[in-house]
Amino acid sequence: MQGTIIVAGIPGVGKTTVLLELDRLAKEKNVPLKIVNFGNVMSELFKKSGKTIHRDHMRRQDITLQSRIQQQAARIISRTPGKAAVVVDTHMFVKTADGVWPGTPQKVLEALDPNMIILIEADAEEIAQRRATDATRYRDGGNVEDAKEDLQWSRYMASCNAVLAGVPIQIVHNRDGQQAKTAIDLLDMIQKRT
Ligand code: AP5
Repeated sequence: MQGTIIVAGIPGVGKTTVLLELDRLAKEKNVPLKIVNFGNVMSELFKKSGKTIHRDHMRRQDITLQSRIQQQAARIISRTPGKAAVVVDTHMFVKTADGVWPGTPQKVLEALDPNMIILIEADAEEIAQRRATDATRYRDGGNVEDAKEDLQWSRYMASCNAVLAGVPIQIVHNRDGQQAKTAIDLLDMIQKRT
């Protein structure tokens, strides 16, 4: 298996939960997979630049700085060593103080050079509920309308990315209590494209 798959999902959709399941499943089945969290790489770069900030506060930083760090993160991820397929855990958009900002603008997309984009989605009602009850994070937009709008933005941005990169989009649903099943579907999609 080789290549890069972008896996994106709006905050609260359960991306981290599903990718933890995916990691466990891939190890169990001896599937060579490396999952890289884009936000973690950015957070390390912020730290190196002298700014230690909570991951949920990165999106509130100056957009020029975020953009520079975003591009550095993409270059670092593009150099991930090894023969395993790389799964990049990221966002199609980030809500910043300056507006809705692409998570994978052209330079980032070119550096990542993905084989496919997978969106993790869930019902807006379930996302709103998860956002409201997840006390571990600082999440914006706690109602159903916010979740619906975010799901739309994610698809708009994914469409632009797919056109630019010439790659397909797949959507996987993370239904309540079904994170293990979601991970099975996800692994199946990844194996077909790497
Ligand atoms: P990141 O950490 O990716 O942000 P996030 O989406 O807010 O966080 P998670 O991925 O942890 O949330 P989640 O939706 O996966 O929810 P979880 O699994 O915890 O990124 C952090 C920051 O990095 C971004 O805000 C941005 O600033 C920056 N960043 C990242 N990529 C960037 C890019 N490309 N460009 C610029 N900046 C970038 O689940 C939520 C809750 O739901 C939990 O309580 C969980 O238990 C529950 N749950 C999950 N699944 C289920 C289920 N199936 N059934 C029932 N409950 C469930």
